[in-house]
Amino acid sequence: MLEVEVFGLASGKQIDKFTTQQTSQQNFLEILQDRGITIASSCFGEGVCKRCLINRSQLSCQLSPADISSESFKIEVDYL
Ligand code: FES
Repeated sequence: MLEVEVFGLASGKQIDKFTTQQTSQQNFLEILQDRGITIASSCFGEGVCKRCLINRSQLSCQLSPADISSESFKIEVDYL
């Protein structure tokens, strides 16, 4: 299991905290949107618009829990 914390840099607040399976086939863009968190996207996860940035340099649509080797992962979103 991967423990995920979502932190908004604009608000200075924790937006969400949840656990997910590292075997999940979903990427983080899909996981966050399913949880009702607004993450920008205009290419629907094709990896070209670069609007879904998390942690300043990671494309959430190209990153999944299986890519995270630690037990916890903090996601920072500039505009939340
Ligand atoms: S949604 Fe467009 S690059 Fe991730």
